[in-house]
Amino acid sequence: MKLFRSIVELQNELFEVRKEGKSVGLVPTMGALHEGHASLVNRSVAENDVTVVSVFLNPTQFNDQGDLDRYPRTLDADCALLEQCGADYVFAPSVEEMYPTKDNRHFEFPPVTTVMEGAHRPGHFNGVCQVVSRLFYIVRPDRAYFGEKDWQQIAVVKALVRYLGLKLQIVECDTIREADGLAKSSRNTLLAPDERAIAPKIYSALKAGKEYGATHTLKETHDKVVADINAVDGLEVEYFSIVDGNTLQEVESWDDSQYIAGCITVYCGKTPIRLIDHITFKE
Ligand code: PAF
Repeated sequence: MKLFRSIVELQNELFEVRKEGKSVGLVPTMGALHEGHASLVNRSVAENDVTVVSVFLNPTQFNDQGDLDRYPRTLDADCALLEQCGADYVFAPSVEEMYPTKDNRHFEFPPVTTVMEGAHRPGHFNGVCQVVSRLFYIVRPDRAYFGEKDWQQIAVVKALVRYLGLKLQIVECDTIREADGLAKSSRNTLLAPDERAIAPKIYSALKAGKEYGATHTLKETHDKVVADINAVDGLEVEYFSIVDGNTLQEVESWDDSQYIAGCITVYCGKTPIRLIDHITFKE
């Protein structure tokens, strides 16, 4: 496995790879890698001749400086994990390398960029599109791998690919969970033991909500999930949106769409740490 910090050096290497007719998979990450990332890398390694993993903590997608400062930075451990997974190249550029000048591009694909995370984290998806589009131009992958944990992000990236007219496949990979149901996330390492103990209640409330929804209205289900989570000392729901899985627009009844998902953001603990999750109600 080779580590690149320079765009030009990575591109020279990939030029040779492509000359040999090899396919390239890209797994974009911000580091602090865990089994969720490993599952994306494993899939890319299985489906492509060569796998590039980017490790870049992208400042333009953070609208909260504290969140960026707290984000774990673990490049050595990340490289060890990637080596084990069989990744070929790690691309870990500096901020100056990725953004030699300020990125003034503005990406907006309403409604997918403006609802839920888009509404609660202004500028977040613009930053995601800035960095992901740059990574796509630099690596020119045949396939790029994203976890369903960031469910809305996948819809945004697909809209970006359509807009840019890029020939590449976005591969959606299942959310990987801890044994107690908590979705794996780099932010989980920031939870204090008492916070880690209550965090799984988010997914248990979503699962209970799915069962409840089979015999109750959408609004009753929505309110129960929110009430169950808010009843836990230390958890507070920021939003819970039940949406059409394609348009990401809120729906009012279970009959409004064939594909319905619930997306939730919860503040956990004193800091607090912001955790997101989702569940499919109908598919
Ligand atoms: O999902 C993430 O970790 C990030 O949003 C991504 C796609 C690597 C862009 O920085």
